[in-house]
Amino acid sequence: MFDTRSLRGLLTALWLLFAAIPTVIGKPSRPCTLGPRKFELTLEWKKHAPDGFERDMILVNGQFPGPLLEITEGDDVEVLVHNKLPYNTTIHYHGIEMHNTPWSDGVPGLTQRQIQPGSSFTYRWTATQYGSYWYHAHQRGQINDGLYGPIIIHPRHGRENPLDLISNDPATVRALEKAVADVKPLVMSDLRHITSDEDWELSLASGIETPCYDSVLFNGKGRVNCWPQEKINSLLGPEQAPLLGLINATGMTDKACLPAEVLGALAAGSPTDLSVIPPDIFDVCTPTEQPLEVIEVPSSQGWVALDVIATFGLIAGSFSIDEHPVWIYAVDGAYIEPQLVEAISVTNGDRFSILVKLDKEPGDYTIRMASTAAAQMLSGYATLSYAEGGRNEASAGYINDVGKNTTASVRFFDQAAMRSFPPETVSPTADQTYKLGLRVAGASYQWALNNTIYPSHLDNENPILFNPQREDEGQHNVTISTQNGTWVDLVFVAETFPMPPHPIHKHGNRMWLIGQGEGAFEYASVAEAAAAMPEAFNFVNPPKRDGFATPPANTGQTWMAVRYHVTNPGAWFLHCHIQAHLQGGMAMVIQDGVDSWPTIPDEYLGYH
Ligand SMILES: *[C@@H]1O[C@H](CO)[C@@H](O)[C@H](O)[C@H]1NC(C)=O
Ligand SMILES: *[C@@H]1O[C@H](CO)[C@@H](O)[C@H](O)[C@H]1NC(C)=O
Ligand SMILES: *[C@@H]1O[C@H](CO)[C@@H](O)[C@H](O)[C@H]1NC(C)=O
Ligand SMILES: *[C@@H]1O[C@H](CO)[C@@H](O)[C@H](O)[C@H]1NC(C)=O
Ligand SMILES: *[C@@H]1O[C@H](CO)[C@@H](O)[C@H](O)[C@H]1NC(C)=O
Ligand SMILES: *[C@@H]1O[C@H](CO)[C@@H](O)[C@H](O)[C@H]1NC(C)=O
Repeated sequence: MFDTRSLRGLLTALWLLFAAIPTVIGKPSRPCTLGPRKFELTLEWKKHAPDGFERDMILVNGQFPGPLLEITEGDDVEVLVHNKLPYNTTIHYHGIEMHNTPWSDGVPGLTQRQIQPGSSFTYRWTATQYGSYWYHAHQRGQINDGLYGPIIIHPRHGRENPLDLISNDPATVRALEKAVADVKPLVMSDLRHITSDEDWELSLASGIETPCYDSVLFNGKGRVNCWPQEKINSLLGPEQAPLLGLINATGMTDKACLPAEVLGALAAGSPTDLSVIPPDIFDVCTPTEQPLEVIEVPSSQGWVALDVIATFGLIAGSFSIDEHPVWIYAVDGAYIEPQLVEAISVTNGDRFSILVKLDKEPGDYTIRMASTAAAQMLSGYATLSYAEGGRNEASAGYINDVGKNTTASVRFFDQAAMRSFPPETVSPTADQTYKLGLRVAGASYQWALNNTIYPSHLDNENPILFNPQREDEGQHNVTISTQNGTWVDLVFVAETFPMPPHPIHKHGNRMWLIGQGEGAFEYASVAEAAAAMPEAFNFVNPPKRDGFATPPANTGQTWMAVRYHVTNPGAWFLHCHIQAHLQGGMAMVIQDGVDSWPTIPDEYLGYH
């Protein structure tokens, strides 16, 4: 027997894309005597039509996505935010560790008070890391309204890099270094035509999540693609048939979504009213013709480096550039031993820094991002163009419109084989293990971490960073406290199934993925589990990232174990990065090194 409520959760894990257009508003190299690198971000609620459909959304300095923050490792950074929105907001710097500045991490009610309409707020932090990051709103579902932009932190002079593992020819390595110094952001996003508030209201009124988006964007450009039913039917996967079967549906809707009735059927137990859902949410597809993003590079350059940033509110899927294998040289901002692949599975929040060799017949090649979620088929495109074309025929894709490989020789990025560069060691043991259950809780749009819905009223309360919770208070079951210097294991257990993957992101530090598996996790600690099933663990060279997606749980429970070292005292958020799941409550707080928290500056304590 399956739990229909969480099956519905599976569906709900539909995701899409949105995009952003970066603009350089600072040049990286300058003497440090000039003081902090300063940025000013003005947030406005305006009409905009990234995919050709005009909607209300958030523009940052008049643009979407927000401007590029270009920084050099070691810089002090100051970001002055002016909130001219009709909403409260905050800005989080995704993947930035905020060492000694947890008050600039941008989580309402956790690290700061809300920036209210008409108010400003200054974030101050030091770029202690290098690589690819992004900033985004951390207020309810505001990512879906477009509040995000890319961050590039150029490595400090002399930092060791892995580029000579790609080629041992010194001239090639120089070309790679030149390309990396000029790395360009490629912001991928999913867009919907309703605002995040309208979306939430619709879930409350209908009783279901509405995982049906409108377009996938690259750097803020894209279009609505409407596919003939024939094409949609030909792409149907084995995941969809049993879901469509629930309502005897013959196929997906014209937007290539599971019909709302399927989500209704999966919400068994909680009340639904599908009549409140307008037809353009799931059913009516209206195509648009908008220009797509073109990444233009002179072929004389030989190589181009891109920071592929997944700002998705919902979807996860496959990324690929036609006819061009790519070298992945950094993941989530940190160097790895480079991997040569044709396609990459990306999920919410991910960053992949890639090098592309421009060695094909000069011309245009399609860049693809295709959702792999069961709830909707959705794909977006951009163009990699070099040497002013000449070639006219369409390029051949490594992946199709549902993110599947088109030939057997397509290699996907292998996260399990990912190796940090230079190598790092993880402690073979931990001081504490926390087991955190993942489930759909109550209504189908409510989600729980540690089986508890994160109370949304906390957003407007005195920040936990200013007011640490005592261990014995068990604050809403959603606060963990750790001691500085200790090693901590978090084990996420999908307790209801089918359950989609949850892209779990931790603020404040990267974590090692030490193990995952199927079945119940019936152990008190990782040490006990590793003794019983050593093959499920890697303590030698596991991948290190600032987010990991839990394994999908289709027919039974699954689990995922991450380990980290507490070296960054502060109050950090731990949450699923799917906007609907975050809004639905899938979040908790970790008071890391609560014994050694830095003193909060008066400026932040007193902010109102
Ligand atoms: C689906 O079709 C079967 C066989 O005709 C029928 O028994 C069942 O009631 C139908 N289910 C729904 C939800 O209409
Ligand atoms: C995709 O890759 C898998 C594994 O290599 C292979 O079995 C499958 O045939 C490939 N699909 C296509 C359409 O070639
Ligand atoms: C905005 O933030 C203020 C201060 O935290 C809070 O009092 C107010 O209720 C918030 N407004 C909304 C709509 O949440
Ligand atoms: C905390 O969890 C316990 C046990 O599941 C539950 O009874 C209680 O209601 C939860 N408290 C909150 C505030 O959610
Ligand atoms: C998880 O929730 C339970 C109640 O269900 C609570 O007793 C426990 O302290 C919570 N665990 C953490 C790590 O917060
Ligand atoms: C926290 O622990 C780390 C690692 O043991 C140590 O380097 C650091 O100095 C500690 N921080 C404080 C504020 O004690």
